[in-house]
Amino acid sequence: MTTQQTQPETQVPTLPFPSGFVWGAATSAYQIEGATGVDGRGTSIWDTFVRQPGRVLNGENADVAIDHYNRYRDDVAVMARLGLTAYRFSVSWPRIMPDGAGRVNQAGLDFYRRLVDELLENGIDPWLTLYHWDLPQALEEAGGWPERDTAHRFADFAATVHEALADRVTNFSTVNEPWCAAFLGYASGEHAPGRREPAAAVRAAHHLNLAHGLAVRALRAQNAATRIGGSVNLYAVSPATEDPADLEAARRIDGLQNRFFLDALLKGAYPEDVLDDLSQITSFDFIRDGDMDVVASPFDILLVNYYSRFTVSGKPGGAASAAAAPTGAGSPWPGSEHISFVNGGRPVTSMGWEIDDSGLYEVLERVARDYPSIPLVISENGAAFEDVVADGAVDDQERLAFIEAHLRVCHAAIEAGIPLKGYFAWSLMDNFEWAWGYGKRFGLVHVDYQTQRRTPKASAFWYADTIRRGGLNG
Ligand code: NOJ
Repeated sequence: MTTQQTQPETQVPTLPFPSGFVWGAATSAYQIEGATGVDGRGTSIWDTFVRQPGRVLNGENADVAIDHYNRYRDDVAVMARLGLTAYRFSVSWPRIMPDGAGRVNQAGLDFYRRLVDELLENGIDPWLTLYHWDLPQALEEAGGWPERDTAHRFADFAATVHEALADRVTNFSTVNEPWCAAFLGYASGEHAPGRREPAAAVRAAHHLNLAHGLAVRALRAQNAATRIGGSVNLYAVSPATEDPADLEAARRIDGLQNRFFLDALLKGAYPEDVLDDLSQITSFDFIRDGDMDVVASPFDILLVNYYSRFTVSGKPGGAASAAAAPTGAGSPWPGSEHISFVNGGRPVTSMGWEIDDSGLYEVLERVARDYPSIPLVISENGAAFEDVVADGAVDDQERLAFIEAHLRVCHAAIEAGIPLKGYFAWSLMDNFEWAWGYGKRFGLVHVDYQTQRRTPKASAFWYADTIRRGGLNG
């Protein structure tokens, strides 16, 4: 990381962040680890899914990914050189419980213990995510997330990981982006396990929420000092026009994307209007008495993943999905298939996602207003662009500008009294972008997939400098 670095700013930042602000970057197990067949790891739904023709662009898989399982020491060294104060990663459920339940694979736990020790030795705080979409295949064969039992198996798994690592990890979070796990996995089929069963997807959503609550209770029972996080992926949502049909479309999409999860976790009830929308496709007999108290078990910090804004129309004609899937997929919006997503006129990333930092402000302000009791962290924010390697360097000015703009919003939010405690860039390194395979690069650090060489991009140098100075210039 010595070459290509521009002259570091020496000036004191005019927009300083509070001391103790968490400066992080994030990854997830399946997207980076590789080594899928070693040391007793079982099979996950993603291992199965990637082998089905037409599921992932160019038939790519993550058998090797970026080989982080073997290169974790080098990767932690990169984090240390960037000056990260925290690293968010996930543990692979099938690495630890190959059959999803019962037998524990000690070699799997040992890997994460080595990783965590390496982080701690480098002064980097580990933020551990328990579920980032790699459900053990055996549990999918038993019905997957639409089955209630999966939530209980998750709580057992969470307790096993916590028992093994809570002596050295303080920050545990439960389910990453439950909306995606439920609706991309079981409604649109764009993600594993690739089912297109809208009613089952709603059941999956409830059981993912239940899994979160059961895990919160299991962790709390083991160690009151653990800081427990719940994660959501929130969007700013705007109607295309003030036409009542567009306003109604915005209500529906905001309802299922944002309020369904926020209200459940933080208020202990699903919003009535969303239940009403979904009642066209399912009854709710799977929600049992007492479930919502479990779902809303108090936790300590809300992890917000923010990428973009949706502009929605009640009239047909726009794109059927907000983020066009690379492979043939259904709608991830049960009961709202008539709604279309229109271009709001902003520049887009290479995912086609509109760039809108003002949406981040809206989201933070809304959460702080409507769910005031909980501190927040941005657990993912970032962008894919078509990076070019020239003379061994990647001058990714668009990503740098994206992150800078969103960090400015974070600063403004903190100034306005919003309890925002940290920011994790997605992603530390280029990696396997699910159904898009390796074509979309989100990393601060470029990865050459042939040689596995890591090259920090201009955005990484800029981020390191920002962390070192503790803030931005106005
Ligand atoms: C959210 C997911 O948590 C992560 O796995 C994914 O790579 C990024 N968004 C970008 O799509």
